[in-house]
Amino acid sequence: MDRELAEATSAIADVIDRALEGYLPAAPEVPDRLAEAVSYSIFAGGKRIRPVLAVMISDALEGRRENVIPGACALEMVHTYSLIHDDLPAMDDDDMRRGKPSSHKVFGEAMAILAGDALLTLAFEVAASSPPEARPARICAEIAGGAGPAGMVGGQAADIAADGAGGGLEDVRYIHSRKTAALIRASVRVGAIAAGASEETIALVGDFGEKLGLLFQATDDILDETAETARLGKTAGKDAASGKLTLPAAVTLEGARREARRLAGEALGALEALEEVPVANTMLPRLVDYVLNRSF
Ligand code: IPE
Ligand code: IPE
Ligand code: MG
Ligand code: MG
Ligand code: MG
Repeated sequence: MDRELAEATSAIADVIDRALEGYLPAAPEVPDRLAEAVSYSIFAGGKRIRPVLAVMISDALEGRRENVIPGACALEMVHTYSLIHDDLPAMDDDDMRRGKPSSHKVFGEAMAILAGDALLTLAFEVAASSPPEARPARICAEIAGGAGPAGMVGGQAADIAADGAGGGLEDVRYIHSRKTAALIRASVRVGAIAAGASEETIALVGDFGEKLGLLFQATDDILDETAETARLGKTAGKDAASGKLTLPAAVTLEGARREARRLAGEALGALEALEEVPVANTMLPRLVDYVLNRSF
């Protein structure tokens, strides 16, 4: 990531972290151990890509920060819940997340499930608190659609069903567009909705999010095969060892790299289609480049 982009994303991530601190539950209203488990995962060191995207899109469309922050925080809460559940023994059975022991390794399976439940539900309370001009009901519906059975949860179900079964590029695309791209698409659309964008702009921004989301999971699958655990912050090599249907499993590592480059081109093309709005003049094209070339 170039320095300017790194500074811009970390400035947004700081704003998000401060807002998240204010939203997180605390004892005595919430049982100690649950509050601890929620806070442990939220502040374990995620990249904050989804809220950063929501805020960057909102900024590009000249939206007000206070209109997008609740929805952006809600997206990170939903994402973090999905990671906690993804790591459970019944799912990917992964002991490491964000460079630390997974939630269930520290708090036990029951509390990890509940921490995920808490984050998922709290997310909608927070999103609903968006200012009226940010269109809170629309933001809630957008996040629910991205996270729900036709989105992330559906993708996770298809991902689990494909374990050990093999498959081709179309099967991988079906899984990736749901388990990962749906919430990333929702993230950029939340930025546009909160900024008061037109339907046409929301749709165009969503097309960009879909491509970027597919690229994001393509590089996630590639990194699982090529990166080191210490750098990744999660167990490298786990997908192949577990018989997961990943992009490299379907089309080889070289094919996966080719597909990632193709998706990056599509994401950049989707940004160019946004010529009516100043998005193409922002750091978003460089963010595409970062997602293509990221090392963790
Ligand atoms: C990991 O997401 C799970 C996927 C959908 C690929 P991230 O790579 O955004 O994870 P964090 O939030 O930085 O830990
Ligand atoms: C998970 O995909 C996507 C989610 C919705 C959590 P992965 O299972 O590949 O994510 P990681 O590699 O564990 O982060
Ligand atoms: Mg998984
Ligand atoms: Mg996983
Ligand atoms: Mg992965």
